[in-house]
Amino acid sequence: MTIYRLAYVSRPSPGLTAEDLTSLAEAAARRNAEIGVTGLLIHEFNRFIQLLEGPLDPVETLMQAIIADKRHSDIRIFLQQSAPERSLSRWIMWSDFTRMAMSRQELLLREEIVRAALESLADLDAEGRKGDREL
Ligand SMILES: Cc1cc2nc3c(=O)[nH]c(=O)nc-3n(C[C@H](O)[C@H](O)[C@H](O)COP(=O)(O)O)c2cc1C
Repeated sequence: MTIYRLAYVSRPSPGLTAEDLTSLAEAAARRNAEIGVTGLLIHEFNRFIQLLEGPLDPVETLMQAIIADKRHSDIRIFLQQSAPERSLSRWIMWSDFTRMAMSRQELLLREEIVRAALESLADLDAEGRKGDREL
């Protein structure tokens, strides 16, 4: 089955508490299991970084709900591709308030996603600075 893979980085809304994030993560874990979406959600550097994987329809529908969610802004999708299989077989919530035991493969994937997210932000910053100079 073809898997659709999407990753984005966003900025958490000011005032989100640890409790808000825990309930967001719990609801997401429940919902994702129901709709067959796996991936990871990272909360670090005052950013959310999320990878979603699953059949095209549920991933697209979920992403529309996520884009409309007021708990974050500045959503930038930096990866969109199809793949023959999932790179993660479960849903992982990683943050400074929840810790899970992760396999080596999962840790490597996490690093890869964080690096890609930071690179996409650095590219945007560089474009912003170039724009400033041209003004
Ligand atoms: C950073 C972030 C990540 C989210 N990730 C998920 C997720 O993986 N799965 C999920 O069901 N909801 C997630 N949500 C919540 C959705 O935006 C939305 O509230 C939820 O899908 C319910 O949508 P609905 O009210 O349109 O049914 C996330 C929200 C935020 C702010």
